[in-house]
Amino acid sequence: MGLATATGPGMLALDEQIARQEAVFLDRQPRSAELVQRARRSLAGGATSSWQIAQPQAVWLTHGRGSRVWDVDGTEYVDLHGGYGVSLVGHAHPAVVRAVQDRVVRGTHFAQPTEDAVVVAEELARRFGLPLWRFGNSGTEATMDAVHLMRAATGRDLVIKVEGCYHGHHDSVEVSVLPEAEEAGPADRPAAVPGNTGIPQAVVDLVAVVGFNDVEMVARVLREHPGQVAGMIVEPVMMNAGIIPPAPGYLAAVRDLLHADGALLTFDEVKTGLTVGPGGATRHYGVTPDIVCLAKALGGGVPVAAIGGTAEVMALVADGRYEQVGTFNGNPLSMAAARATLLEALTPAAYERVERLRDRMQRDVTAVLAEHGLPWEVVTIGAKGCISFLDRPVRNLRDFHAIDARLGHLHWLVQHNGGVFLPPWGKVEQWLLSVQHEEDDADRFVANVATFAALLRG
Ligand SMILES: Cc1ncc(COP(=O)(O)O)c(C=O)c1O
Repeated sequence: MGLATATGPGMLALDEQIARQEAVFLDRQPRSAELVQRARRSLAGGATSSWQIAQPQAVWLTHGRGSRVWDVDGTEYVDLHGGYGVSLVGHAHPAVVRAVQDRVVRGTHFAQPTEDAVVVAEELARRFGLPLWRFGNSGTEATMDAVHLMRAATGRDLVIKVEGCYHGHHDSVEVSVLPEAEEAGPADRPAAVPGNTGIPQAVVDLVAVVGFNDVEMVARVLREHPGQVAGMIVEPVMMNAGIIPPAPGYLAAVRDLLHADGALLTFDEVKTGLTVGPGGATRHYGVTPDIVCLAKALGGGVPVAAIGGTAEVMALVADGRYEQVGTFNGNPLSMAAARATLLEALTPAAYERVERLRDRMQRDVTAVLAEHGLPWEVVTIGAKGCISFLDRPVRNLRDFHAIDARLGHLHWLVQHNGGVFLPPWGKVEQWLLSVQHEEDDADRFVANVATFAALLRG
């Protein structure tokens, strides 16, 4: 039988494989099923975030340690889900546990700064090459402040955003997140599509949408709206549509175009920061934007976000022209966890270890795919990786649209049933290694890829 992505009998085979794997999945998780039923009576939709609702069922967990997590049915998994990009330190990293335990008995909240905040800011300044920092609690808060700051600094309202990039759930960036092919408009002039209900059209109208890796489109927006663009926000490596690296020169070119127009550039490094390398994509590609947003991995599993900027941009915060505020900003527990994460867990040696494992996984997954005649790319950077599920390079959202989402779903199911926990949106996001993963963790993943490939080949 041919590859199951073909039309006709192949497609039927793929649907059948999914149905079989979903049945196995449900069989393995009776206690999760009970909790879903119970939760539906008190938690809207039976989950604590809409993106925790998976098909065929959300997985409920009890605990994690090192590279592993356990579900409520007692099954152990290699965790490559990584809490949507958070668990770069793995679970219960000893340094983070020590820091949190030490802090928790001395009070966890004062709404006043503690010394740890300076240590974290100094370390981020060193890593990212931006001098001044502030803190928040989530990626959404960080990118919201970034958009506000770009507007405050320039006195302009229009923001350029890349289709397929996700920057959190505030109005200005909930535009063209993952628009369907039918609503996305022409590839050379993408439509601005609300990414959720409840987003006012007036806000959508303040967002100019461009394709990733397309410098000319940014130039055109700037030409068509002279003196009106506050800035551009972009994931320097797209990580919410598989993994799409920037084309050589792209990041520097858009920065230079924006600056020539008096507009600013924000790198949303909520996912890339720390996972791509110690100084994020900013250092990896050697392009320093005006603003960097961090969250996720920074807290080692405790909620925290950071926003860093040039002296010029952050002067607005320093002198009060822009009030960057929040009751929990610089929360002592978050700061203690971030300090331990940066200084004790994410050391140069830890990064080297992750990169060795990353390379091994890339080599082995590539070999398995080749062995089964599957013409897909294995894209990795830092601790992150994905199988493209497409027979040509993915450069932007339009290429990403061509991927059959069922392949990602089947892969997720096969990995899950084979003891590897991945994010449930198989096409959108795949694996994150941590500093605590070992070779046998990677080997289990690779063995499951072989099972998946064999199923597809029939
Ligand atoms: C690139 C990026 N920016 C921002 C966010 C929003 O972060 P949070 O969910 O912490 O608000 C996310 C979340 O997935 C993200 O991937």
